[in-house]
Amino acid sequence: MARSTAKRAEQPAKAASPAPKSRIRAVALTDLPAVIALDEEITGLAKPDYWKDLYERYGARRRSERFFLVAESAEGIQGFVIGEVRAWEFGSPPCGWIFAIQVRHRGRLKGAGTRLFNAICDCFRRAGVDKVRTMLARDNTLILSFFRSQGMMAGPFIQLEMALG
Ligand SMILES: CC(C)(COP(=O)(O)OP(=O)(O)OC[C@H]1O[C@@H](n2cnc3c(N)ncnc32)[C@H](O)[C@@H]1OP(=O)(O)O)[C@@H](O)C(=O)NCCC(=O)NCCS
Repeated sequence: MARSTAKRAEQPAKAASPAPKSRIRAVALTDLPAVIALDEEITGLAKPDYWKDLYERYGARRRSERFFLVAESAEGIQGFVIGEVRAWEFGSPPCGWIFAIQVRHRGRLKGAGTRLFNAICDCFRRAGVDKVRTMLARDNTLILSFFRSQGMMAGPFIQLEMALG
């Protein structure tokens, strides 16, 4: 659905030549400067303390259920994905949650996002879960198109919120 209809906003045209394949692997401490730079390139904000904390929680501990993977090509880190197995939140049996995925602008539309997605799904399978979930902003049509292209669909939960004024 979204695969064929979504507008390819702010994206370069797909490269005519085959894309250089990136290798997917677990993040290392030495990748942090590249991850911070990539996030800054995409969000416009450098957040070194945030990424150091995420690395400590997701890249260095409980690695059988927390996953922080990077896509690396000859040109360096092209993207990353972060997720974890969460159990019994909201009454749900254990399932995989993806809460961040980013590919640098010039590496997009070459399959790196798909390879990251597939790799973290393999991690979830090995961790023993059979479902993957994520949450996204309603107006982020890019990330919605991407996740729909991977086969994800609306799930059984809804999110509620209110201002604590
Ligand atoms: C979403 C994102 C990870 C996709 O990475 P990518 O490497 O370009 O993805 P792929 O090349 O594997 O694309 C897979 C499919 O996603 C969909 N897709 C990707 N980019 C798209 C775009 N700009 N418009 C519409 N569909 C798109 C397509 O269906 C595509 O398949 P196709 O090329 O065969 O049509 C990347 O665009 C990104 O980092 N975006 C910003 C992420 C973000 O907003 N993160 C915040 C929330 S965590």
